[in-house]
Amino acid sequence: MTPRDASIKTREICGLAPVVPVLVIEDLTTAVPTAEALIAGGLPALEVTLRTPAALDVIKAMATVKGGVVGAGTLLTPADVRAAKAAGAKFGVSPGATDALLQACKDEDLPLLPGAATASEAMALLERGYDMLKFFPAEAAGGAPALKAMGAPIPQISFCPTGGVTLKNAPDYLALTNTLCVGGSWVAPKSMIQSGDWSGIEDIARTAANLSR
Ligand code: 3PG
Repeated sequence: MTPRDASIKTREICGLAPVVPVLVIEDLTTAVPTAEALIAGGLPALEVTLRTPAALDVIKAMATVKGGVVGAGTLLTPADVRAAKAAGAKFGVSPGATDALLQACKDEDLPLLPGAATASEAMALLERGYDMLKFFPAEAAGGAPALKAMGAPIPQISFCPTGGVTLKNAPDYLALTNTLCVGGSWVAPKSMIQSGDWSGIEDIARTAANLSR
């Protein structure tokens, strides 16, 4: 898959809802109910981070839930890309981008949302054909004002800002012309997953899904 085709696909996925939940799932038994709650609340695109031993099995399990589009986050190496693809991930997300990672996504046909925090990083990815990027770490890298500033010289790139995004600051990003959606872990708090508060997660998801953009 070419970078251009990858970005067409990730634009489609990021267009599904204003928020992509960033999920850190420790316990496999919580995977399906978490996905069901988020999807029922109106957030179909889910990013499962490869930060827990259960993550690949979580992707496999969540991929069976109707109505969802499950991707893998925290892709750092070609091995992560291969494992994510084998687990059934429909897209990949990385905090950054390396030659090896981009090549692996091409080889594996995994649409990638690569990360960038500066104009040079964004330009380098645009040069390769990516025009849909993750802005990471969004708040630490200057937040919505920084992303807005990036949009003036490079309006052809769209972003999914992630890292420190909350219900409170999400509208600032979603108001920008170069922001398609935001990513965040706030929609599925660890404590609510651990306590099995599925209706609470569905409520948060519904509020997030109703954010205007
Ligand atoms: C990511 O993995 O993209 C971010 O770490 C998620 O950031 P958050 O926990 O601040 O939402």
